[in-house]
Amino acid sequence: MDAQALTIRRPDDWHLHLRDGAMLRAVAPVTARRFGRAIVMPNLSPPVTTPALAAAYRDRIRAALPADTGFAPLMTCYLTDATDPAALVRGHADGLWVAAKLYPAHATTNSAHGVSSVAAIRPVLAAMERAGMVLCVHGEVTDPAIDIFDREAVFVERVLQPLIADFPGLRIVLEHITTAQAAAFVADGPATLAATITPQHLHLNRNALFAGGLRPHAYCLPVVKREHHRLAVRAAAVSGSAKFFLGTDSAPHAVAAKESGCGCAGIFNAPFALESYLAVFEEEGALDRFEGFASEHGARFYGLPLNAGTVTLVRDGVDVPARVAGLVPFHAGERLAWRVTK
Ligand code: NCD
Ligand code: ZN
Repeated sequence: MDAQALTIRRPDDWHLHLRDGAMLRAVAPVTARRFGRAIVMPNLSPPVTTPALAAAYRDRIRAALPADTGFAPLMTCYLTDATDPAALVRGHADGLWVAAKLYPAHATTNSAHGVSSVAAIRPVLAAMERAGMVLCVHGEVTDPAIDIFDREAVFVERVLQPLIADFPGLRIVLEHITTAQAAAFVADGPATLAATITPQHLHLNRNALFAGGLRPHAYCLPVVKREHHRLAVRAAAVSGSAKFFLGTDSAPHAVAAKESGCGCAGIFNAPFALESYLAVFEEEGALDRFEGFASEHGARFYGLPLNAGTVTLVRDGVDVPARVAGLVPFHAGERLAWRVTK
């Protein structure tokens, strides 16, 4: 392989926050330039809980895209204790949404309407299992007695393991994994289980939150963990296993909302996401596995066709600016070794 240029099938982003209004118009073109499709998170305020809300949001996303774009937003339904199983699978059969999102109530940004317990949505999960609809999971317990750095590992044991046992046919994506426990559980789990991995959880450990002072732009949920967890997540990403694929969790917040006495969780990584991931694959000696992770594994798990078209990265470097669309991007002020050319 030519180490100075890399051309891969056009990638997809299997976990993305596009927001709404002016923020949507600012960030949607950034993702559409590089990615073929993205799983669009439904945690708006109010959340995207019905077919009508999803159809209207999809229209607003399309209106925010460049005229000549080939980008397709893949919509999701925000599950609540009140989700109607019949309406959910009808929306799936109609092609309106491809997946549903389980936020444990109060786990993260705009999750107040989330699910109180798996027991509360059993009929929904059974209907999804029958319909072959993917469940995307924010995998953290919300019990305040559990240390925030342990919430993912405890979720895997207390919630995910029984969920898989009860719904063996349900396809589940454990999103934005951050721990050795999650990586091992997914790798060893059934074929119905997969995981997305973000750039920040490949680059940062928890020291980054406090490097020389409090660093709000390194704060996201699930929060970055100890170094040995980062190394385990990196090993999973570059392993070549089809159970791991690209999901940026790009989650833009206004600068003032991040740099605040109570800063929002979320890292805006969309502008240089491919460059960021590719740096990791190069450091791990796994450039030949990047295309599978970025462009193939996710589509296969979702049962969708691979994208046509390609993107090319060259190894001449890029300086990440302090702001993109008025927001602070991941890697702001750093130089990354690879650059997307087309
Ligand atoms: C996300 C957001 O801001 O919507 N934040 C984050 O830190 N990842 C919510 C989420 O995905 O948990
Ligand atoms: Zn997210």
